[in-house]
Amino acid sequence: TIDQKVNALLKQMTLEEKIGQLNQYTGNNQATGPITINPNKETEIKKGLIGSMLNVLGTKYTRQYQELAMQSRLKIPLLFGQDVVHGYKTTFPLPLAEAASWDLEAMELSARIAAVEASASGIHWTFAPMVDIARDPRWGRVMEGAGEDTYLGSRIAYARVKGFQGNLGDVNSVMACVKHFAAYGAAVGGRDYNSVDMSERMLWETYLPPFKAALDAGAATFMNSFNDINGIPATGNKYLQRDILKGKWNFQGFVVSDWGSIGEMVNHGYSKDNKEAALQAITAGSDMDMESNAYRYHLAELVKENKVPIALIDDAVKRILRKKFELGLFDNPYKYSNPEREQAALNNPEHRKAARDIAAKSIVLLKNEKNILPLSKDTKTIAFIGPLVKEHKQNMGFWAVELPELDYDKQVVSQWEGVQNKIGNSTKLLYAKGCEIEGDNKDGFAEAIAVANQADVVILSIGERADMSGEAKSRSNIHLPGVQEELVKAIQATGKRVVVLINAGRPLVFNWTADNVPAIAYTWWLGSEAGNAIADILFGDYNPSGKLPMSFPREEGQIPIYYNHFNTGRPAKNETESNYVSAYTDLKNSARFPFGYGLSYTSFEYSNLKLSKNKIKNTENIAVSLSVTNSGKVAGEEVVQLYLRDKVGSVVRPIIELKDFQKIKLNAGETKVVKFIIDKEKLSFYNAELEWIAEPGDFDLMIGSSSSDIRLKDTFELVK
Ligand code: IFM
Repeated sequence: TIDQKVNALLKQMTLEEKIGQLNQYTGNNQATGPITINPNKETEIKKGLIGSMLNVLGTKYTRQYQELAMQSRLKIPLLFGQDVVHGYKTTFPLPLAEAASWDLEAMELSARIAAVEASASGIHWTFAPMVDIARDPRWGRVMEGAGEDTYLGSRIAYARVKGFQGNLGDVNSVMACVKHFAAYGAAVGGRDYNSVDMSERMLWETYLPPFKAALDAGAATFMNSFNDINGIPATGNKYLQRDILKGKWNFQGFVVSDWGSIGEMVNHGYSKDNKEAALQAITAGSDMDMESNAYRYHLAELVKENKVPIALIDDAVKRILRKKFELGLFDNPYKYSNPEREQAALNNPEHRKAARDIAAKSIVLLKNEKNILPLSKDTKTIAFIGPLVKEHKQNMGFWAVELPELDYDKQVVSQWEGVQNKIGNSTKLLYAKGCEIEGDNKDGFAEAIAVANQADVVILSIGERADMSGEAKSRSNIHLPGVQEELVKAIQATGKRVVVLINAGRPLVFNWTADNVPAIAYTWWLGSEAGNAIADILFGDYNPSGKLPMSFPREEGQIPIYYNHFNTGRPAKNETESNYVSAYTDLKNSARFPFGYGLSYTSFEYSNLKLSKNKIKNTENIAVSLSVTNSGKVAGEEVVQLYLRDKVGSVVRPIIELKDFQKIKLNAGETKVVKFIIDKEKLSFYNAELEWIAEPGDFDLMIGSSSSDIRLKDTFELVK
């Protein structure tokens, strides 16, 4: 068995070789943190003193490094890890954008394709999915997760792990690395790397479930996080890593630190030096040290001083070796580095097709007055204006893998090209940049207005630069940057029909645009096929079906904002009430665009809600059914959302919580019956003693098209 092989190998290993397995270094291609380049990397690999590398791309380089490892005494293969976050060569939409599709199959497929491409390139392991719940759009890393909701986030976490890992050990799979353990998404003020202070109940109820779901899907590895939580850095946090993850949850894989996060415990003021940091990290359950050099320089000494029991080292080494065996690397260390397979996998047209499909599904139509969209392909003159219209690489967004030899102007379909591909010869397409993304220069406005004046319809493509959201990209101001909203005003003043596309890695604030422009589509960053996917929705070849996975605030002052909040003792009765109620006196009492919201080119009617019972014991289920009819003129997809409210609890409960959903496709005029099951699990929560229980009492059942567009309601009771 693998365990026998691991044990036999462990017996032959010196202490230095064991510790070697716990060290991870970056290659030279890319850095995703501050590098203290290890100048002896190559010699150390030959001595078996390095277990894993990150940021080594391509069969050629992974093979070169692996050849060095094969010169080591025990020939233990290296593991190659990489941030394959939303695609490898084929770039898929940002994870947050994909989450807006609510299409679990499509998300699993995009992860699968990323794995097929990355594994063919010699990568064994992706540092994804990020499953941090995020309620603060100032945090630059919201782009990398699935948004604010625990239920949706957990389903997506599960799908993504399944997609990446497939049948782990098959040559076209990679290990997933679920991150960041834990609660990184709750960094105070949305500032990256910042502290987290959180109740146990919130940790268990809101932040941990997506990790557990990822584990249930078989996630091979976890990454801990930069933040401290309740005063203890996650990297040195025994409660998180040993008690919860490896204890209660019985996780058998290994935990890698975040980049330098072991050493950073010195900055946190938790460790007096790197040596103490190494002691605290290994004791707490961090198995592999990414770029801190703490294990490399101090673990052996700590063992010799009897401060770290050898059993701890052995356990960490075994966890890592087991994965190397499971991947089949001992049978063939070059198994994943195959140039022919790489060629085929990286040039598979099916991958581009899937990327276009999910990109279109990720777009959220926020507004469409007077059915301005879709545009007719016979429109005589279209003005396409804005700083993002002709961009290629921007569409990839943050955390896109950049392969050194690729020309991304050819790889990524710009929005201009996408629209050009769609229109016929009879349509004139005009362009003006208008302004830059940032800065206050309005020199381009006059040309943009002149171009708009010649057109029947104007499409404006504005937003962030791709690198304005991502790691270390927190922003205190999330309004549309620069003079872009002024450009929108100037163009809107021409009286032309205006469609705005907003490209961003996070929810932005754009109140004037939202109030005044008749058609708005949120296009995030959509990857390699961005331009085609955007054109698909602009011209109606795909009917938008995305729904927001995060609430959009009206102002930064409303953050953190999330739909499933408590009622408080003084809830506001309506949008504007602010007198001695829980509200802001200078803002409406709602999100600008709520969680679960998104329009379609058709309309859906909900009817006929039936519950099999209105009174159940907790051993029983309720069968829920309802009908949804496409009452418009074109086929479309709807995300039917099931929400619950536990009316009275031994601890207070949210006013509304997503508990299930289904995405269905309906032809014009078609009706479908949608069915859900409500079971004890859906009614349960953590009580004050942190027991997961369903308490007897009354529940509201709400079925809606968004968290604030509830179409059908009923109540039921859970009895003893
Ligand atoms: O995987 C990432 C992590 O999410 C943030 N710091 C760097 C790591 C490796 O690139």
